[in-house]
Formats: sequence, C-alpha cells, structure tokens
Amino acid sequence: MPLKNINPTTTKAWKKLTTHYSEIQDIHLKEFFKLHPNREDEFKIVFDDFSIDYSKNRINQKTLDLLIELANESELKDAIQKYFSGDIINATENRAVLHTALRDNQTKEIRVNNTNVKPEIENTLAKMQVFSNNVISGEWKGYTGKSITDIVNIGIGGSDLGPDMVVESLKFYKNHLHTHFVSNVDGDHVSEVIKNLNPETTLFVIVSKTFTTQETLTNANTIKEWFLKSASQNDISKHFVAVSTNIAAIERFGIDSNNVFPMWNWVGGRFSLWSAVGLTISLSVGFDNFKSLLNGASEMDTHFKNTDFDKNIPVLLSLISIWYNNFFGCETEAILPYSQYLNKLSDYLQQAIMESNGKSVDRNGEKITYQTGTIIWGSTGTNMQHAFMQLVHQGTKLIPTDFIGFEESLYGLTDHHIKLTANFQGQMQALAFGKTEEEVHLDLKFNNKSENISKLLPFKVFEGNKPSTAITIKKLTPNSLGKLIAMYEHKLFIQGVIWNIYSFDQFGVELGKELANKYYNQLK
Ligand code: F6P
Repeated sequence: MPLKNINPTTTKAWKKLTTHYSEIQDIHLKEFFKLHPNREDEFKIVFDDFSIDYSKNRINQKTLDLLIELANESELKDAIQKYFSGDIINATENRAVLHTALRDNQTKEIRVNNTNVKPEIENTLAKMQVFSNNVISGEWKGYTGKSITDIVNIGIGGSDLGPDMVVESLKFYKNHLHTHFVSNVDGDHVSEVIKNLNPETTLFVIVSKTFTTQETLTNANTIKEWFLKSASQNDISKHFVAVSTNIAAIERFGIDSNNVFPMWNWVGGRFSLWSAVGLTISLSVGFDNFKSLLNGASEMDTHFKNTDFDKNIPVLLSLISIWYNNFFGCETEAILPYSQYLNKLSDYLQQAIMESNGKSVDRNGEKITYQTGTIIWGSTGTNMQHAFMQLVHQGTKLIPTDFIGFEESLYGLTDHHIKLTANFQGQMQALAFGKTEEEVHLDLKFNNKSENISKLLPFKVFEGNKPSTAITIKKLTPNSLGKLIAMYEHKLFIQGVIWNIYSFDQFGVELGKELANKYYNQLK
C-alpha cells in the first residue's frame, strides 16, 4: 500500500502549533530552565550507549505534545509499518524502500512483490565475508602472484559517500589494506589516486547501482586502460570486482561473473552502504566489524519501530527539526561531531537528507506551499569553533545544531579528551545561555578595561537562545556508528512522511545530467 496523502498544514495540530509558536517564540531558554529546573532530566532519552539531551531546544512539553499530535494526524505509525514491511512507498519509482532489511537480524522473511528477499541478502553477505577474508588474509593473489595491498572504490554519490565516510569514521579499526576512493569525473582525481599504485597489488571495486553513471564508468574505463598497460585482459578477474543491480552491463565491462556482488532496486543509492556497496568497508575493517555496523543500525531500527513517539529518538529529533523549519523559519541545520573521525559525516548526511527531502511537489503531485528539506552542513569540533561558529553564536540567523560527542576517546589520551568534552559542553552552554550586558560589564571591569566598557559592551554580548541537541555516545565503535547513521536515516524518513513528499526518488538530479551529455557531444 502507498503512503497516505495528508497535507500537514490542514491538520488540527498544525493550526495549534501555529498559535503555540506565536505564544512561545520569544521565550528565552534561560526562562525555560528557570520554569523547569529539572528540564535536563525530563527532556532526555537514554537508549543503550546513546543519550540524547534535547533540553536546550526552544520547546516546552506542550510543543512536544502538539508535534506528536502532528505525527499522529500524519499517520506516521502507518507509514513506519509500511516502510519496514516492503510496501511500495517509493511510489514514483514503483519501489519498496528496504535498506532496513539489509541489517535486519530478527526476521526470517521480508517480502517484496511476494518474494522473500532475506535469502539473497544472506547469500550476498556470505559472499562478502568469504571475499573480504581472502583479500585481507593475502590468500587472494594478483596477476603476478602477489597479495593485495590497496583497494580503490570507484563510485559516486551513494556509491562513494557512504563507504568513504564509514571507512574514515572507523579508521581506528582498520587493517593493513590501504583504501582509496575515486568519484569525481575530474581526471585529476583519478590520476592522483592511481599515480602511486601498483597494478599488481591493487584491487578495484566498481560500485554503481545502475552501472550507467557517467563519472563511474569514465573512471572505471580510465583505470582499466591504465591496468591493461601492464597486465592482460585475462588478469582483470583478479583485480576488478563490481557491485550493481545491472549484471548485464557489468559483464559487458568485462568483469568475471564470480566477481559480481548484487544489489537491488529496493535499496536507494544513498541508503546502500549496508548492502554490497559496503564491500570496501568490509575489506577495510573486516567483515566482523561490518556486521557490527549492521547490527548497530538494526538496534536503532528496533528502537524506532517499537518505541512510543514521546521516547523515540528519530521521532523526537525529526519533530523538533520540523518545529524550527516550519515555524521558526530556520533554513539550515548544522551537524557538529566532536570526533575528528567523523569529519565526513556531514558530507554523507547532505546527500542522505538533501537528495531525499529537497522536494517542492507533494504526494498528490501539487506544488507545496510550506517549507520542506532543510539545508545540512557541518564540520568537526573543535576545528569549526575557529571557523564558522562566530556566525552561529552572534550572527543574525537561527541555526539549530546537533552536537555529537563521545564519552571515551579511542586512544585514551585523557587530557585531550577532557578538553574536547569541555569544549563540547561549553559551546552548547554558550549558545543556549549567552552572556548578558551585566556579565560583560563585570568582566571588562575585572580585567581593568574600564575606559573601554561602553564602547565594547554591545560587541561582547551574547544573546544566547540558540538551540542545540546533545547526542552523547559512549564510544565510537562500528555498532554505535551504525546506530547513528540509522538514526539520521529514520529522521529524514519521518520528515518526508509529515511533509507529504516522496523522499526516495531524486528526479532533481536528472536534468543536469541530460544537459551535460548534450554539451559533451557538442564539446567533443
Ligand atoms: O546523484 C544521483 C544518483 O542517482 C544518486 O542517487 C546515486 O547515489 C548516485 O547518483 C550514483 O548512482 P549509481 O550508484 O547508479 O552509479
């Protein structure tokens, strides 16, 4: 069954939220905390190794109640049930959306168009495991009998960003294989990557759901030509493998049928790292770690599926984000992980969220009159404190932020980690509560700057009242990373449901591709 078609602005909850917004829009976070000193305990969810503190948001209990009313009126429960059970919720492409099936470890049967897809998922995972073990152990030999030392992932969009982000995030768990990513059609990118590689010891993983993407095929062909300068056609099977739904095109490219890892139409590109698209992850950190990543995501899926909305992490995060987007008129959201390992997370989430929810036509085919997808951006703390945070603290724009922090660091450098955590907390505190004129005055006086006080005062005041959500995780592991990614996937799904849009197509990228092909023919 398709998703229901409900214009959110016609719901009773939306009208109540509009009135409620006019009542509380100017209340300062300081006031909220004064009224409810236990707010930090009340507006908090603890789930396994995750703790979500959403107390520093411009909401009160009534806001949450009304937002949950909105979710109920939008029939979110029904949508969640359809999402997990393989209904054709990607109606414009006539497809189910089942990336959750790829990591499900509880059900024996998940049906798409009356076929149980679990056996093919299990078989592909088993194939990935054997292949990864062979390459990592050195048993898999290149064309001159040497073991593999380097892996090159060739793909773009979802066939690049997910694997690249996860490999970077799990660097601590990495084995001896060197991993590289080629994505851009810019020839300088591929040239830089291959210039120091030895064809005898390099394995190329071509990843393309469609196997028609210009960038990926151009890079794959360039690399094949480079490889064939020192090797022969027969050697390709030892160095090229492919992940795709388009088996015929892979064979035409010359890849051995044993080296093909399948994926399926019911997995969207930007949600595909859990499938064989994650082969480079499995090669880099080992299959067991890849499986832990899947298990973490599956735990978040279970939490999302089974938890009441008022204690449900993805539900609350997405509703709070709708509150800012549709009532406060915020245009962007920043994602700020306090871990250098997560430096590619915001790039990854940009595709996941913006390619999904950047839509202006509703599920009825009508032009939308309210705001949909938010602009996502971000970088890691503490670096970004010395870059763009000035604007978040004192600029004219209201930017809700997600702060992601870890209780433990991976190398245990205690003093560094204490400083990192102190900054994590200090930033959120400063954003929420700011610094008043009186406090600035006292400060200047105390520092013997009395003669400049009146001049400097306005520039040194922090208004505060800037919202943030703290996502604190015990430790960065494959499991917790899996949970974190799944949390954002569900957040964007919920928003798509409530905004009454189709989140799982991406027709907006097509026109540019068509025109590029036209110009290519002219330029050539
Ligand atoms: O940018 C459009 C897009 O279709 C993405 O959704 C996808 O992840 C990317 O191109 C790559 O597509 P493919 O895996 O088919 O090469």
